[in-house]
Amino acid sequence: MQIQFSEEQLMIRDAARSFARQELLPGVIERDEKQYFPEELIKKMGELGFLGLMVSPDYGGAGMDTVSYVLAMEEIAAVDASAAVCMSVNNSLVCRGLEQTGTGMQKQRYLLPLARGEMLGAFLLSEPEAGSDAAAQQTTAVDQGDHYLLNGAKNWITNGSSASVYIVMAQSRPEQGTHGINAFIVEKSWPGVTVGLKENKMGIRGSDTHSILFEDVKIPKENRLGEEGSGFGYAMQCLNAGRIGIAAQALGIAAGAYERSLRYAGERQTFGKPIGMHQAIQFKLADMATRIEAARLLCLKAAADKDLGRDYTLSSSMAKLYASDTAMWVTTEAVQIHGGYGYVKAYHVERMMRDAKITQIYEGTSEVQRMIISRSVLESAG
Ligand code: CAA
Ligand code: FAD
Repeated sequence: MQIQFSEEQLMIRDAARSFARQELLPGVIERDEKQYFPEELIKKMGELGFLGLMVSPDYGGAGMDTVSYVLAMEEIAAVDASAAVCMSVNNSLVCRGLEQTGTGMQKQRYLLPLARGEMLGAFLLSEPEAGSDAAAQQTTAVDQGDHYLLNGAKNWITNGSSASVYIVMAQSRPEQGTHGINAFIVEKSWPGVTVGLKENKMGIRGSDTHSILFEDVKIPKENRLGEEGSGFGYAMQCLNAGRIGIAAQALGIAAGAYERSLRYAGERQTFGKPIGMHQAIQFKLADMATRIEAARLLCLKAAADKDLGRDYTLSSSMAKLYASDTAMWVTTEAVQIHGGYGYVKAYHVERMMRDAKITQIYEGTSEVQRMIISRSVLESAG
């Protein structure tokens, strides 16, 4: 694998870095405390092309590759992990699938404004009784001839209240198991759609997470994505791509905490010298740097697999598993390096430690990633 970024890739990385440091950093502590993410910031991310980074310019996107997306995600997440997940969901779980599978009408009506950042999207797979076991969907979409009738509840939905377009998975033919599940485009404004309570979370508190309830929602037939019964496979393919985004989010959180630790190790004096002169701290920094570099290479490998048209199921799961564990470990060590200051909000690393935890849970827990990886390696062993 050649690691030589193009001018264009470096330009996107630099644009994301400037945006993160100039626009996201100033209010990040307050947004975490008050649990909100202002509409203007979502709008700005859209204007800069970050919400439809990989979508073709024909559909309002920036037309960049997945490597550029990883570089941009790392920069955004290094400063604000909540902004990063908003970006990841819209790009990988919403726009990518619409571009690959959507009809002409679906692309014009939904993908175009989503890629331009004029609308925000959300991905609704998880339910109160169906998280890791995604096939256990209880939300139903019953075929009524010219429309489907949608009933049920979805849990933990990122961008739940700020999105206006939902990609919803629901069971239409339970007797056919995963092959009875469909994926639909549902508008938040439709009768019967209710945004439930906002979750009060440990981390990524700037990101709005809600349950979404459906009661006799009429979905026009033209809003089904793909063939009848293809919704589970559709969701899995979205997640293969989504996991690259979350891996890059985890990488960014780790890199942000490391950068702060490195700086602090040069500034803080104990026993007459900077703490970075004590071998115990030096070795922590060495391990942090090494793990981050390994996580970065796994993210870039998964991105390159996707860009080159290779299967990226395995590489995206490996990247997500390793980068999320790295984020958790690095941020915990970052708090340790900062001592008591690490435990208070002003130094940022305590928020990063809280933010890191979710990367081991959503878009498939670390246990689910190990299931996917082990299935794949056992299969290839014959
Ligand atoms: N890519 C493509 N297809 C896949 C796939 C993948 N990664 N995983 C499974 N499939 C396909 C299989 O090939 C199979 O297809 P056929 O029936 O046509 O052969 C079908 O799906 C069923 O597969 P399995 O029998 O393997 O399914 P399973 O019930 O054993 O579950 C699982 C597999 C991998 C555990 C899956 O349920 C899973 O990924 N669970 C985790 C769910 C998840 O990640 N949720 C995230 C929600 S979104 C989110 O979290 C967003 C956010 O936070 C920001
Ligand atoms: P469970 O599936 O109940 O798992 C509980 C524990 O058991 C975990 O440790 C799990 O790894 C383990 N476990 C389960 N099955 C096995 C097994 N077979 N072998 C070994 N261990 C196992 N979902 C969406 O659809 N869209 C979103 O936008 C979204 N955003 C989210 C945002 C946040 C902040 C959170 C917290 C969640 C979000 N989710 C979203 C849901 C998320 O994907 C699920 O929480 C996750 O997939 C785990 O499901 P669960 O919570 O039901 O845990």
